[in-house]
Amino acid sequence: MTPGARHLYIHLPFCAHRCGYCDFVTAVGRRAQHAGYVDALLAELELERSVLAPRLETVFLGGGTPTFTQPRALQRLLSSLPAADEVTVEANPETVTQELARMLRAQGVNRISLGVQSFRPHLLGVLDRVVQPDTVRRAFYHFRDAGFDNISFDLIYGIPGQAASDLDADLADALELGPEHLSCYELEAKPGTRFTHAHGDELERQAEAMESYFELVVERLTAAGYRWYETANFCRTSEPSGRRDLRSRHNLAYWLGRDYLGLGVGAVSTIAGRRWRNTPRLAAYMQALERETAPVRELEPLTREVRHRERVMLGLRLDEPLLLGELAEVVDQRAVSRLERLGLVLRDADRQTLALTPRGRFLGGGVTADLLA
Ligand SMILES: C[S@@+](CC[C@H](N)C(=O)[O-])C[C@H]1O[C@@H](n2cnc3c(N)ncnc32)[C@H](O)[C@@H]1O
Ligand code: SF4
Repeated sequence: MTPGARHLYIHLPFCAHRCGYCDFVTAVGRRAQHAGYVDALLAELELERSVLAPRLETVFLGGGTPTFTQPRALQRLLSSLPAADEVTVEANPETVTQELARMLRAQGVNRISLGVQSFRPHLLGVLDRVVQPDTVRRAFYHFRDAGFDNISFDLIYGIPGQAASDLDADLADALELGPEHLSCYELEAKPGTRFTHAHGDELERQAEAMESYFELVVERLTAAGYRWYETANFCRTSEPSGRRDLRSRHNLAYWLGRDYLGLGVGAVSTIAGRRWRNTPRLAAYMQALERETAPVRELEPLTREVRHRERVMLGLRLDEPLLLGELAEVVDQRAVSRLERLGLVLRDADRQTLALTPRGRFLGGGVTADLLA
């Protein structure tokens, strides 16, 4: 096997404004710094190039809002990156123009992850999104017109003020456009934030409804022919043009415990049993790379046990059985038997695999926590 990481993540932190619920490493505006930030990313790429395999499988530009980055700086970044089979860019609908979509396609981007969140104007308002539902549709068609045949939508549920009928309508609106892939996330509201303060009671009410929302999401999307391949992720299986595997190859690499290099402010890397996280401070990150030195990094100790537990937790989120092998060390065999009797887990002793049943997948993290010795 060729050595080196075959998956590259690049963090572009800039956003037009900050949404109340967001906990990612972001920086508002700073247009004058976009070009300098791309210089810093390319300097970090040069410093770390030796850990990458000669041929990459995936590149993922995430944010922040990658498509808010000044187009010329974004184009320069894309044209300087190593080629890969799957190149994804996260896009916010209001930033997408015909020119931008064409530029991304011309630079080798072949997958788009569009931050839709909801099609309901009142819920978009609660999330501080500036966008209107028609802007989402326009962005989608700009990408289609530019030749993108692999588009993913991000949707959020459990939004303050949301009813099951709102979620149903969001899913129907998404399905009408027919993206190749959908990620549907439960809203996570961090305690102590302004958002949580503002919506406290309503967040509690939403938390009680979360399980039924999750079931609704899975029911609607699988009935429409999507494969529920990871707890929160769905891809189209039926398409006229052939039999492409439309799972996110980049995210699969995380879930399968593969090595990846992360570049940029706050980015995480996991390579050869080591994990580090770049400083989340933009100025410190850029200053270090101006001097062509690595930014300050926080090292996370990754013992064999931690790695194995993580592999089990992530692997059981997938719809394919997890090959246990040496991972069996961290799995409690008595818990497996108990959960098997409850119809939550499937064990194949011959193949040495473990999988969650559909009911087990709905209960998700709780079942996995029980399994880990
Ligand atoms: C890196 S984020 C943001 C991408 C892009 N800037 C946007 O806002 O659409 C990627 C996705 O994470 C999800 N997300 C962000 N914050 C979340 C939260 N607090 N709870 C659940 N999902 C969240 C959203 O669906 C979002 O599209
Ligand atoms: S646009 Fe996306 S990354 Fe930026 S603050 Fe909003 S949710 Fe976070």
